[in-house]
Amino acid sequence: MRFFLILSCAAFLSCAQPEATHPKKGSVEALIPAVKEIKTDGEFGFYTDGELRIKGLELLGVSSCVIDEWLRLSGLEVREGINPNLIFEFSKTIGDEAYELEIDNDLIRISAVDEEGLYRGWTTLKQIIPASAEIGGLTGGLYLPRVKIYDYAEFEHRGLLLDCCRHFMEVDFVMKMIDNLAEHKMNVLHWHLTEDQGWRVEIDAYPELTEVGAWRTELDGSRYGGYYTKDEIREVVEYAAARHIEVIPEVELPGHSQAALASYPWLGCTGEKVEVANKWGVFKDIYCAGNDNTLRFIEAVMDEVCELFPSDRIHIGGDEAPKVRWKACEKCQKRISSEGLKDEHELQTWMIEHVGEYLKAKGKTIIGWDEILEGGLPQGAAVQSWRGMGGALEAVEHGVDAIVSPTSHCYLDYPLSSTDLEEVYGFNPIPEGAEHGPGRIIGGECNMWTEHAPQELVESKVFPRAIGLAEVLWSGVEITSKDGAYTEFQKRLDAHLNRLDFKGVDYGLEAVPVNLSLAQKESGELVATVVPEADYIKGYAAFGGNEVEIGRGLLVDGPGDVVAKINYRGRDLERHEVFRVDAHAAVYKDIKLSYEPSAYYTGGGNHALVDGRIGSSNFRDGTWQAKQGEDLLIEIDLEEIVEIDSISFNVYLYQDAWIFEPSEVVFLVDGKEVTRIGNSNSLDKNDFQGVVNVSSGKLVDIVGSRVAVQISNPGICPNWHAAATESTWLFLDELVVRRK
Ligand code: ACM
Ligand code: ZN
Repeated sequence: MRFFLILSCAAFLSCAQPEATHPKKGSVEALIPAVKEIKTDGEFGFYTDGELRIKGLELLGVSSCVIDEWLRLSGLEVREGINPNLIFEFSKTIGDEAYELEIDNDLIRISAVDEEGLYRGWTTLKQIIPASAEIGGLTGGLYLPRVKIYDYAEFEHRGLLLDCCRHFMEVDFVMKMIDNLAEHKMNVLHWHLTEDQGWRVEIDAYPELTEVGAWRTELDGSRYGGYYTKDEIREVVEYAAARHIEVIPEVELPGHSQAALASYPWLGCTGEKVEVANKWGVFKDIYCAGNDNTLRFIEAVMDEVCELFPSDRIHIGGDEAPKVRWKACEKCQKRISSEGLKDEHELQTWMIEHVGEYLKAKGKTIIGWDEILEGGLPQGAAVQSWRGMGGALEAVEHGVDAIVSPTSHCYLDYPLSSTDLEEVYGFNPIPEGAEHGPGRIIGGECNMWTEHAPQELVESKVFPRAIGLAEVLWSGVEITSKDGAYTEFQKRLDAHLNRLDFKGVDYGLEAVPVNLSLAQKESGELVATVVPEADYIKGYAAFGGNEVEIGRGLLVDGPGDVVAKINYRGRDLERHEVFRVDAHAAVYKDIKLSYEPSAYYTGGGNHALVDGRIGSSNFRDGTWQAKQGEDLLIEIDLEEIVEIDSISFNVYLYQDAWIFEPSEVVFLVDGKEVTRIGNSNSLDKNDFQGVVNVSSGKLVDIVGSRVAVQISNPGICPNWHAAATESTWLFLDELVVRRK
C-alpha cells in the first residue's frame, strides 16, 4: 500500500509542481481542532534552507515511517541525528493524548508521555507547515512562527462510522478516509461491515457470506457488491494503527442480518431462502435466537473477527430488530421459557449477553446501539446513543460508558438542510444530568450511513461536517460554545480548506448554499432569484440563455431549469444546484384547496401548487405538498378566459414510505370534466421511487377561466404492505396549466 501512495503522490506532483524557489512561511492561524493553550508572538523563530535533521523519530514506533515519508514528500531534505532541528522526546506531559509543541531558535520540539501524544503533536505541526508541503512545496526552505502549544484530548472516543455495506468502498478510499480522520485528531473508525444489503468481511469458516452475501441484485437487474479479504482488512487496520486510529468493526446482530440469512437460510427462524436485500429499510428476517447452531455461527464469526481486529471493543449493532419472526418461532419461544425471560426484548438482551460473554473470554467488550437497553442492558455493554441522547443518559445512570451520535447532530447522511456544520459544531456531547455519572460519556461519532451515498459522494458528506465534530470532541465545548466560536472556526476552516484541496479531498459545503425565490412582477412575468445563504457564497445563475450573478433576478418564460453555479469560499464547485421552474398560465392565480396540507409537507405557503416551482426527486425538498388519507379537490381561478392546451401535475411515488399514486384523477374546466384517468393498479406493489407525471393530455377546443382537479386517495396501505391498514399519502408539486 505504501508504494501505491508514494506513486500516486508522485503522479500528482508531476502535474501540479509548485514553485519551489523561495522559502515558504508557516502559520498557526488555522489549527483544527483548536488547541487548548497557545502562545505566539507571530515572529518567525524557525528557519531552514530545506534541511530537516530529526532526532527521536523512532520514539513514534509504528507512526515513524508515516512521518518520515510525509516529510520526504514535502520537499525537505530529511536527515537524522547531528545538530537536530526537529526533536521528538518523551516527557511528563499531563492529559489524555497530551503533547507540547515548541518552535523557537530554529528548533522544533514535540514532547509527550507516549507515542500517541507525540503523534497528536505531529499532526499539529503539520498544520503549522504550509499546505503546499502536501505536494512537495518546501524545496526552497521553510520559516515557521515562534510558538508554544500545550494540548490534550477532551474526549477519549472521537470517531466516524463508515457504512461500507449499503455502498461498498474501495480499500484505498477507506485508507484515505483514515488519513483525513487522523489529520483532525479523530481516533476511531467504526467500520460497519455487515448488513441486510451486503456482508463485507471474509470469514473462512463460512465462505458463502462473501460468495453469496456480499452481492445483491439491484432493482434494475444489475449485480452490486464487494467485500474485504482478510489481507485487505489487516492492511487497513495496520494503516489506521500507524495513524493512531482504532478500527472498531461492527458485526450486526440480531437484526440487519439478511445478507447472512441469504447465505445460510438456517440462521433465521423460518429457514426459508431470502435474498440479499436490494431496498433500504428495516427487515423482519433476523438471526434466530432459539437456534444453538445460529449461536455457534455467530461465535465462529466472532473468532475470526477478533483475530482481524485488535480493538478492545466490538460493535454488535442491536438496532432496529423487528421481533415478528421470534414471536412466531417455536425455538425462540422455547428459549424465552427455558431462560425465564419475559418477552422478545429480553430474548434480545439474552442473545447479546451470550455474545458479550463469549467475547469477554477473548478480552473484548461490546458496544451496542441504544435499542440494547430495551430488554435490560446486557452485562458489560457500552451504549451508542443515536435516537437522541436518552440512551446515553440511561447508560450513564446504569454506570456504563456511552458514545453519543444522535440523529439531531451527528448523521452525515442527512442533508445540509437538516444538519449543517453549525449544527454539528454546536453539539454538546454531555446532556444535562449526565455530568456526574456514575457512567461516563466517553465521546461521540459522526455516522456516515450510505443508503443514498455511493463512494463518490461520501467525502462530500463527511467533510467539512466531521471536522466540526472533531473540534467538539478534541477541543471540548468550553472552546466550541464560546461567544463567536463558530465564526472564528469558520475563519480557520476557510484557510484549512486549502490543505484539503492539496490532499485531494472532495469536501462538500458547510450549509445549504442557495435558495430559490420566485416572484411575480406587476406585468405578470415570473422572476427567479437564486439567493445566496452566506457571504462566502458567490456565483452565477442561468435560465435558458440568460445568466446573472446570483442574488439578481432572472426572467422565467416557460418550463426549464434555473442552474446555480456556485463559488464557495473562492472555489468554483463542479456540482451545480438545479431548481426546476415553470412559468405557466396558473402561476400565482387564486387557488382553493379542499384540504389542510400536512404541516410537514406544505410545499411552501398558500400558492405552493401554483408558485412556478416543480418538485425534485427528493420528496423532502420543501416543494412537495402532501396529505394523508383524504381525497383532494384543487380549484384555480385563471382570472381570464384562456385556451388551455393541457393540465398536469407530478405525484411522488414511494410505497415503502406509504406514498401512493391516486386511484382516480378528474380534470375539469369551468365545471365540465375534460379528462378522467382511472388507475385501478394504484395499490399494486410497485418498487419505483420517484416522480410520476399525471396529465390531462393535449386538450382540443377547451377554453375557460376556472380549472379544477379532483384527486382520489387510493385508500389504506394494502395487505402486502408493511404498514397494512395505515392511510396512504398523496404528494403533489405543482398544478401546471399550459396555454395553447
Ligand atoms: C441506526 O442509525 N440505525 C443506528
Ligand atoms: Zn427463532
